[in-house]
This record gives sequence, structure tokens and C-alpha cells, in this order.
Amino acid sequence: MDTLHDYLEKHKDRFLEELLDLLRIPSISADSAYKADVLKAAEFVADKLKAAGADNVEVCPTDGHPIVYGEKLIDHNLPTVLVYGHYDVQPPDPLNLWDSPPFEPVIKKTDLHPEGAIYARGACDDKGQMYMHVKAFEMMMATGNLTCNVKFMLEGEEEVGSEHLGVFIKANKEKLSSDVVLISDTAMLANDTPSIDVGLRGLSYMEVEVTGPNRDLHSGVYGGAVANPANILAKMIASLQDENNRITIPGFYDDVDELSQEERAKMAEAPFDLEAYKADLDINAVWGEEGYSTMERASIRPTLDVNGIWSGYIGEGAKTVLPSKAYAKISMRLVPHQDSHKISALFQKHFESIAPDCVKVKVTSHHGGEPVVTPIDSAPFIAASNAMEKTFGKKPIPTRGGGSIPIVALFESVLGLKSVLFGFGLDSDNLHSPNEKYGLFNYYKGIETIPYFFKYYAEEM
Ligand code: BES
Ligand code: MN
Ligand code: MN
Repeated sequence: MDTLHDYLEKHKDRFLEELLDLLRIPSISADSAYKADVLKAAEFVADKLKAAGADNVEVCPTDGHPIVYGEKLIDHNLPTVLVYGHYDVQPPDPLNLWDSPPFEPVIKKTDLHPEGAIYARGACDDKGQMYMHVKAFEMMMATGNLTCNVKFMLEGEEEVGSEHLGVFIKANKEKLSSDVVLISDTAMLANDTPSIDVGLRGLSYMEVEVTGPNRDLHSGVYGGAVANPANILAKMIASLQDENNRITIPGFYDDVDELSQEERAKMAEAPFDLEAYKADLDINAVWGEEGYSTMERASIRPTLDVNGIWSGYIGEGAKTVLPSKAYAKISMRLVPHQDSHKISALFQKHFESIAPDCVKVKVTSHHGGEPVVTPIDSAPFIAASNAMEKTFGKKPIPTRGGGSIPIVALFESVLGLKSVLFGFGLDSDNLHSPNEKYGLFNYYKGIETIPYFFKYYAEEM
């Protein structure tokens, strides 16, 4: 029988080819035109799980996109790891900003990825990272190194809020009973600086509609005398942050968990190069809440951002018009112990209260999620840390992630399970953005590292 190392060396190219095949399926969960492709991606993953030796593999239908389940239960005295990931992806637009088509993966070398990176929508978030677990499982099975029971639960709705996965876990508590959830859907600091996220932000996502006159008007005939909802909306949004870039919604910070000076000092030890950060984004200066570092602003502090804004004429040339309506999609990232329902309600009340009499506003709430922190003094975290130390030659730094994976809070509240955020991506991998990529180094390093998590976790338990 091969060792894990030899097996990986022998099957490296196939592991990559399979991922490229998966990346060719446009499993865009947000767009109903791709429903069949989302199902195709689910079936692809289910087939590979089966081929690797998983039992009871199913593509479980839901009222939305399906959930792929599979398991290998080897001994009830051993701990059980629930692997979660998602095979759906974000829409690829704007398409014109991609250097190569989003669903035709290509491999190119870059400064950050001298071994080459796979360019495709979902390469990092999350097909590439999710598929590392399928291949690591294949390796453990084929080499006699599976040391824990394992259950896979891979969903197709993460990028649209995981609504039906929430229903699924509530209905399948027994089937999903495990000791810990293992997730690769986050980033590390750098390829030579491994880290493990120990927290994720929550999310409140709002949409606002501001209505002025009952129809679009000639901006010369009426302009200056009738409120322009686009102007008003811009003022209202601008007022949501003060001169220190603090959010002005009354009560917004009430429940925010303020970190101690000690915790903040610890965080500041993580390497961070502000000049490289600015250069990468082509900005002259960073921006954010007074009194906090860039790292803190992007992880332990709550935020408010416009994700989309539209109104009036946006076609070619100039049309003189005073629009009837203006819209914006506004998200707030939340930190422990803020509650997304409470924050959404505070936003709605405040936004309605600041609207001048000359307009009407309508505020609606989209899906949200709660923030989480995961323990660092637990057996699974220590196993993950030791696994990364083994394969990177360096102890990973605990970090707080800025993104959100709403289902993680439900794993805790519904299943009573803590998660390990075992991410191998980089923040610069262009998640949700054109030219998303995932380093070959990262893909193979993940596949190499995951079996050590299983080994160390079984030894500790
Ligand atoms: N994998 C990301 C979340 C993430 C990215 C966490 C990087 C930490 C670092 C996930 O797929 C995602 O994009 N989540 C959404 C929320 C969801 C409700 C659409 C997000 O964070 O915007
Ligand atoms: Mn993801
Ligand atoms: Mn995502």
C-alpha cells in the first residue's frame, strides 16, 4: 500500500484534472437559469465521494439546491468529523473584467503563486477548497489512513444564504451527529504564514428604495423644485457614518464585544504589510473606523457598506432626467455579540426616521447570519494547528476572519457542534470578483494537511 505522500505524488495530476472538470460546471446558485448546472455539480461531487469509498452517498433534494451527503463510519469508538463545504459559486459578472472565461479554468503563474494558480469562478470559494477534502478522503481510504469516522455535507446554497441547509440540519440531527465540523472556506495570511480563523463576522443585508415624484421628470422643468431621490439617498447613506467613520445608527454598537488591549496586542503580532496591501489594491490610503488598525477594521469591527446603488439614467450619453426612484443594497458585517435580526430592525427604524418628508422610503431585509468565535483551546483546534505546523513547518497564527459563513452559527445552536475553520485560500484570491484564483500550492498543501488533522484528532481523543 502507498504512503499518503506517494499516493499524492502518483495522483496529483488527476486530482487537478478533476477539480478543473468541476470548475467547468457553472453552478451559480443565485441565478435560476443555472439550476441544472448546480445539480450537475452536486452529482459530480457525489460520484467522486462514492468512487473514493464513501457509503450512503445521496444527493438530497431540498426546496432549493440539493445537499450532497456521504459518510464512512469505521468505528463508533472513534471521533466523527463532519466535513462541510459548498459547491455553488457566485455569479461571475462583470464578465468583461475577466482575463479568461470564468468557467474555462486556466493555470497561470503570478508573483504570489509562482507554482501557478487556477483561474476560474469557484477556484478558491469554495470548489477548490471543498474538493481538497474529497481527495484527502480518497487518499486516506486508499492508503489505510482513515483514523476518524467522517460525514460529508456539501451544499449548493452557501452563496445565497444556506436557507435550506438550515432546514436540513434541523431535520437530520441524528444523521449528522458528530464531534466537530471541519470547514475549508476561509483564508490564511500567506503561503509562508499559515493561520487559522477563530471567528467569522455575521451579516445583516438590507435593501432600500427611495421614492420621490410619482414619475421620472424633466430635470430642467422640475429640477431644483422637487426632491431628487438619488440625491436624497446619497445624503442618507452618507449620514450613516460620522466623521470618525463610526456607524450612526442608534444602538448599533450596544452589543459589540470590545476586545481587551491584551487581545488586540496579540492580534497586532500577526504580520501585516500595509504598503503591500495598498499596492495590491492600487489605493493611496486606507480608510475606516478611527482608533482601529486595518486588520481590526476588517475582522473584529462591524461595518456598513453599499453593495449596489442605482437610479436614473445609466445608459450611453446624457439624458436629462430627475428619477422617480433610487435604490441601494446595504450590508452590515456584525461581530460577536451583535444579533442580525436586532441590527436589521435598528437599521430599518433609523433609515425611516432620517428620510425627509419630500420622499418615501421602503426598507426590506435579505438573508443574514450570526457572527461566531471558535475555541482555540479545544482538541480539534489543536489537531488543526499541529497538522498545519507539520506540513508548513510553522505554527499557524489564530486570526479573526472578516467574511461570513452563516450556517456555522447554526451548527452550534442546532447541532451543538463547534467548527474548525481550516482555510487554505488567500484574501488576494479574488473571491466574488473577476479573475478568482486558487494556488496549486494551496490546493495540494490542503490535500496534504487534511489527513494529519484526522490523525492528530484521533490521537487526542
Ligand atoms: N467563503 C466565504 C466566506 C469567507 C471568505 C470567510 C473569506 C472568510 C474569509 C463565503 O462563501 C461567503 O462568501 N459568504 C458570504 C455570505 C453569504 C451569506 C453570501 C459573505 O461573506 O459575503
Ligand atoms: Mn465560501
Ligand atoms: Mn463566497
